[in-house]
Amino acid sequence: MADTNASLQIGGKSFDYPVRSGTVGPDVIDIRTLYGKTGAFTFDPGFTSTASCESQITYIDGDEGILLHRGYPIDQLAEQSSFMEVAYLLLHGDLPNKSELETFVYTITRHTMLHEQLAQFYRGFRRDAHPMAIMCGVVGALSAFYHDSTDITDPKQRMIASHRLIAKMPTIAAMAYKYSVGQPFVYPDNKLSYTGNFLRMTFGVPAEPFEVNPIVEQAMRTIFILHADHEQNASTSTVRLAGSSGANPFACIAAGIACLWGPAHGGANEAALNMLREIGTPDRIPEYIARAKDKDDPFRLMGFGHRVYKNYDPRAKVMQKTAEAVLKELGVSDPVFDVARELEQIALNDEYFIEKKLYPNVDFYSGVILSAIGFPTSMFTALFALARTVGWVAQWNEMISDPDQKIGRPRQLYTGQAQRDYVPVGQR
Ligand code: SDX
Repeated sequence: MADTNASLQIGGKSFDYPVRSGTVGPDVIDIRTLYGKTGAFTFDPGFTSTASCESQITYIDGDEGILLHRGYPIDQLAEQSSFMEVAYLLLHGDLPNKSELETFVYTITRHTMLHEQLAQFYRGFRRDAHPMAIMCGVVGALSAFYHDSTDITDPKQRMIASHRLIAKMPTIAAMAYKYSVGQPFVYPDNKLSYTGNFLRMTFGVPAEPFEVNPIVEQAMRTIFILHADHEQNASTSTVRLAGSSGANPFACIAAGIACLWGPAHGGANEAALNMLREIGTPDRIPEYIARAKDKDDPFRLMGFGHRVYKNYDPRAKVMQKTAEAVLKELGVSDPVFDVARELEQIALNDEYFIEKKLYPNVDFYSGVILSAIGFPTSMFTALFALARTVGWVAQWNEMISDPDQKIGRPRQLYTGQAQRDYVPVGQR
């Protein structure tokens, strides 16, 4: 409830608005009655100072570089949990006990297959289609196949749709990769872990048995956990906004995938590795640092900076440690990793980056690991979407269950033409 009030003076009148405090983090000023009382809107393009909802799923402290999922720190989850356990935690609010986890894993495992008709969908794409284009299309098309889980007012159907989305994203992503390399689709194997199954569907071939490499499986598990959810980021806000109209969950997640694709968001992992490859050698780093600082150059250091983190992204720290371990254990020496570490050191000691509080984010090192495992850069954002689906469905369920939720419909500051009369073309 409101602890104090905030007063606003408009047009010589004073208006009070309740200030609400959360468990932790910034207070909010509840301005839901502002327009009704004052006739004025707030103005906050990019929502830099706006809380769009109340949530209990993820907390980020950008200054301290803290990320909690239902209260658990991301580094502890990355080191001690599993992706299925984190998915359960995000969806249900607490870590599962042994039998709850077994039931959840059993349920997800038995939704991994796609309707066989959906496999035909892929054949409509060019072989060189970007995997994110395929993900947008195929995930949106799920709503044409699973009508028994599109009634969002039915909690049972919401949970079935959530399980289907979590379970089928690895299959859909692996099939997008297989299609791009002209290899046959590999069906799920229910004996394998969620991550091991994904690796086999991606890199396995029908011509020979596939052994899941435990080092790679562990690294993918960590990467999936690090990408699972992240408060009200652009794609999660897209999923919430789409869901607020009552759209079915498959369409909402397809909208989130589309938003994540952007290079300023989830597309940054692909852009960061391409940038590191373009830099090529440490001696070319100063040229790119200069470009990143040049106001007239649209170039930005991809994988650097964050709207919320004004300190080191805690996920990037775990990602860097994982990259080091995976490259060593796989015996892969990738010069791009050396460029990344050198670039990080130079940038973190450069006045521009210090003053603007720009640090590596989750996308800076992830590509080094994914590339070492064998994924093409075009698959990087599809993997981000695969992992983020657990966060999207958790946030979507939370929104739909919120008794206060209503369709999201922002207003604007209109600076266009005032009303004027039509002029026939002969008089213009
Ligand atoms: C993700 O929101 C989330 O939580 C997202 C995410 C998640 O898990 O969902 O964490 C995942 O999207 C991580 C971010 C991935 N994107 C990139 O790495 C792309 C490169 N980064 C930038 O585009 C930028 O930092 C953003 C988009 C991430 C954040 O942009 P903001 O918060 O809108 O900040 P800004 O663009 O206003 O930048 C502030 C200043 C600007 O300079 P001034 O106008 O003040 O002079 O910092 C500069 C920017 O020019 N700046 C950079 C920079 N990022 C910001 N300069 C050079 N290189 C950069 N990377």
